[in-house]
Amino acid sequence: MKRILPLIGGILLIAAAIGVWSVTRSAAWSEEEKSTLSGLWIGSLPALQPDPSNAYADDTQAAEFGHELFFDTRFSSTGEVSCATCHLPELMFTDGESLAQGVGTTDRKTMTIIGTAYSPWQFWDGRKDSQWAQALAPLESAVEHGGTRAQYVHLISEFYREEYEAIFGPLPDFSDPERFPISAGPVDDPAARAAWEAMTQADRDAVTQVFVNMGKAIAAYERLIMPGPARFDLYVDALLKDDKPAMKTALTEDEVAGLRLFIGKANCIQCHNGPLFTNNDFHNTGVPTAQNLPLDDGRASGVILVLADEFNCLSPWSDAGDSDCAELRFVTSAGEQLAAAFKPPTLRNVAETAPYMHAGQFATLEDVLAHYNHPPVSPIGHNELDPLGLTPREMAQIVAFLGALSGGVDAPPELLQAP
Ligand code: HEC
Ligand code: HEC
Repeated sequence: MKRILPLIGGILLIAAAIGVWSVTRSAAWSEEEKSTLSGLWIGSLPALQPDPSNAYADDTQAAEFGHELFFDTRFSSTGEVSCATCHLPELMFTDGESLAQGVGTTDRKTMTIIGTAYSPWQFWDGRKDSQWAQALAPLESAVEHGGTRAQYVHLISEFYREEYEAIFGPLPDFSDPERFPISAGPVDDPAARAAWEAMTQADRDAVTQVFVNMGKAIAAYERLIMPGPARFDLYVDALLKDDKPAMKTALTEDEVAGLRLFIGKANCIQCHNGPLFTNNDFHNTGVPTAQNLPLDDGRASGVILVLADEFNCLSPWSDAGDSDCAELRFVTSAGEQLAAAFKPPTLRNVAETAPYMHAGQFATLEDVLAHYNHPPVSPIGHNELDPLGLTPREMAQIVAFLGALSGGVDAPPELLQAP
């Protein structure tokens, strides 16, 4: 017995030493991993490229005007819906709903606008190729703002004349109700559509030009709404400076373990990469069809819509030359991989923006991880995901890591509320 005790003690010591060694070893990142992490770091976010399709994209006055439009509920059929009804600054510009509620109910979940100026495609299915073209869609959607472009130009003439003219030049005279009905536009409502079709082409173009400028002003505002640095970014900051104490305060051990899984075994970075954690491409991840909604074929329809869009980069309303529209001209427009493919949203602030997926199919991040661990057969097309074989602990660590991506919004505070 006397001899065995020191032996056991020795074995325990060796075991403890191995334990310490493996912990410190797993805490170190390889050079390759470091470069992966610096690619996810907010410090890698490049300066925003100019948007050649929008001559007002970086105009300060246009951004101020866009800020007002974003919060103004008069631009709707009921006088009650603005962009901010669904994109609430305090909820990271989302709304906490599975399906967005405007004057009616949409069939998709509200996406954040934070950092979307970097995205070549807007919406879950990418059916718009610029932020200004995107902004015009909800304004004319029967379930979102529910109004018409003729109604909106009357509102601009009445309430925003000076501001509009200082940016875009003289407003046409829309005061003749015979030529410019109170409500008219290429919308679902049959009366408004008939009124629109009865107008001359020149009068329709005059209305559309002002409507387009509204979109360009809103886009100028959205270009100022960027994500703020999260604890994850502080961690990478510290890692790049080899500041171990600062690394420890930035992330917990579980969060670091989750990060390791995110870029390793779980391979989330295949699609959620770059400083916004999205590759801005389209993927079928087998998310189930939402209850009571028809099958959603995502990008397969989205690409047809963007190519035919009245307001795309190649349209007469765009300020771009044809050579500026490479994304659109060389877009993948057909193929089995587009069926039920959706844009991976940014994962910055994701812990604040439940529920998840294109129709809010999952209530929590735990549900999201369960989906990735056992990917189901896709409702249409082919699910790109493979089973991950994560343990419950590992799934919890990834969820913990996602919580470390909350860094809020980086924008002047006055832009985060109604003007
Ligand atoms: C009724 C709620 C609602 C209103 C009002 C609304 N949105 Fe949205 N927004 C959504 C939904 C839902 C989506 C996703 C829709 C889809 O993919 O089909 C979305 C998507 C977007 C996106 C795309 C983000 C991305 O990553 O692709 C932007 C940008 C945006 N909205 C800006 C606006 C602006 C600007 C306005 C006002 C002119 C507005 N929204 C009004 C609900 C709304
Ligand atoms: C093959 C590409 C791909 C991979 C790999 C992938 N994702 Fe996604 N992710 C997507 C797409 C596409 C969506 C949107 C799908 C939809 O709405 O139908 C999404 C959505 C999400 C959402 C919901 C975001 C929101 O705002 O609704 C979260 C959270 C998420 N992914 C986390 C992860 C994590 C964690 C991993 C690794 C375990 C991962 N993703 C791996 C493509 C991918």
